[in-house]
Amino acid sequence: MISPWLRRLHYRQANGYDQGSKDLSGPRRSNHPLTSEGWDRITQTNNVSEDSLAGVTLTGVSKRFGGVAVIRNLSLDIAAREFVVFLGPSGCGKSTLLRMIAGLETVDEGEIRIGDRRVDTLPPGERGVAMVFQHYALYPHMTIRDNMAFGLRNIGTAADEIAARVEAAAQSLEIGHLLDRKPGQLSGGQRQRVAIARAIVKQPELFLFDEPLSNLDAALRVRTRLELAQLHQRLGTTMIFVTHDQVEAMTLADRIVVLNDGRVEQVGTPMDIYLRPASLFVATFVGSPTINLLPGKVSDAGGATLVTLADGTKLQTAVSMAGLAPGDTTIGLRAEHVRVAEGGAVEARARVVERLGERTLVHVELADGSPLVAEDAGISQARAGDTVRLAINAAAAHLFDADGRGHHAAG
Ligand SMILES: Nc1ncnc2c1ncn2[C@@H]1O[C@H](COP(=O)(O)OP(=O)(O)OP(=O)(O)O)[C@@H](O)[C@H]1O
Ligand SMILES: [Mg+2]
Repeated sequence: MISPWLRRLHYRQANGYDQGSKDLSGPRRSNHPLTSEGWDRITQTNNVSEDSLAGVTLTGVSKRFGGVAVIRNLSLDIAAREFVVFLGPSGCGKSTLLRMIAGLETVDEGEIRIGDRRVDTLPPGERGVAMVFQHYALYPHMTIRDNMAFGLRNIGTAADEIAARVEAAAQSLEIGHLLDRKPGQLSGGQRQRVAIARAIVKQPELFLFDEPLSNLDAALRVRTRLELAQLHQRLGTTMIFVTHDQVEAMTLADRIVVLNDGRVEQVGTPMDIYLRPASLFVATFVGSPTINLLPGKVSDAGGATLVTLADGTKLQTAVSMAGLAPGDTTIGLRAEHVRVAEGGAVEARARVVERLGERTLVHVELADGSPLVAEDAGISQARAGDTVRLAINAAAAHLFDADGRGHHAAG
């Protein structure tokens, strides 16, 4: 008997959701405190209603280790089918939060709901989640097929159902030809793909990924990123993905949750986060090269918001003065808004020129010594030591007040 979930996957594959997947690779590591083997033993997701679409709600969630607060009164709503990325620096609490949702860490305060069920009081196996770790581990003595089937056999799933789910997941991740091999006969990336397939056969309501791409080399990371996006389109299941890589977050997420020291710094679509960073922290964490930040003085010039830089340059921004106090400010300018241009209003000295192919980054110093990264065309005449002129698109500038809060042009 084929489950409704499997029918949905087949339907989605038959109707063009399946764009296929390519090779993955990466070294095998298994030093995670809870390996996927341990996880297999505790997850049993068969009791989940298979056509349910579950969102996740965190309400006032807190966690301390010893006396140290790691997650601080955190509330968050994730819609069913959403791909949400937790983004933040090392140690900000991303894994802890994910592990609390999975049930691998207890919750000190607050409540976690998956769909309409309160789960923070349930054991991991009753939460309907499947988690993929950075440091996956497969049973070395078992074939890939048995590795994928193991968790389902443990909970007494019928053999034909197991076979059908394993085939469907293997086809989905293009590992069908590897099913009779042992893990030692696979590349690291193929093993990571097996780890993802093993999560898929559990038919969870919610996938949790903790930096699953970090062990892959650069090219494979990019490919696997795309495959995960396609997997999400195909399955339509809610996914939470943890990373400290802003490019992964920007490219994968429906919404990004930027975390800082156990708190939500901002929640928004990737372009919200990029175009309207709520704080200096978010502005500097997202975007490459890092946003230019310069100290300046803000003033109201007849209704316009004027910023005067330390070198005397005056920039008329499109930010409203409402909510800004005249005086000290930090102006944020992304490199694409500081162009090397003949006849540009600002003079600077080029220090380092980085040619990236499609564009050139010119690291300059303003007259007062302030550093700035400007952008030029792929074919650029700029050389280190040159005096260059910069055209600054001040209408795209962000202003940050003394508390680090972001102020942006309307729209
Ligand atoms: N079992 C534990 N006991 C004590 N402290 C812990 C424990 N687990 C995590 N921590 C601490 O909690 C904080 C958050 O850790 P967490 O693993 O959630 O960070 P992270 O954002 O996932 O970082 P990374 O990007 O490095 O994986 C860190 O300061 C960490 O040292
Ligand atoms: Mg982590």
